[in-house]
Amino acid sequence: CCLLLALALLLPQDAASRECDLQGLWRNELGSNMTILATNAAGTFSGSYHTAVAATNKQILVSPLQGVQQHPSAKRHPTFSFIVLWQFSDSTTAFVGQCFVDHRGKETLETTWLLREEVLSHKDTWKATRVGTSIFTCVK
Ligand code: BTN
Repeated sequence: CCLLLALALLLPQDAASRECDLQGLWRNELGSNMTILATNAAGTFSGSYHTAVAATNKQILVSPLQGVQQHPSAKRHPTFSFIVLWQFSDSTTAFVGQCFVDHRGKETLETTWLLREEVLSHKDTWKATRVGTSIFTCVK
């Protein structure tokens, strides 16, 4: 019984002190799904992004992402960035963000993104970039 009590007291602390891990399946408030694969020693990672929405009318395709985490395995709440090269449009999106883990061990990615679409002339550059924020929660 004392052992169980000790475990119950220790487990939340364990979750609270855990490092936030980018690897996994994530979903944002739009319903987009993203898979991040294991980060290597240099902090780089790859994965795939299945967006739920698009600025084009083309059929959405799962698209590759490439990213890098700052100070891999040394930070509890690491910063990171990644880009998505959309396979169904001429646009690209760059995300920057930070991974947070709460006292219960729940992880979230808080990000800001820039979506650059291709325009036919530099005169249209003024309307070529969208900006937004997105929060991802870990699904698996
Ligand atoms: C395009 O429309 O040309 C490509 C798809 C862009 C999807 C954007 S990226 C930022 C925002 N967050 C998402 O999950 N999807 C949209």
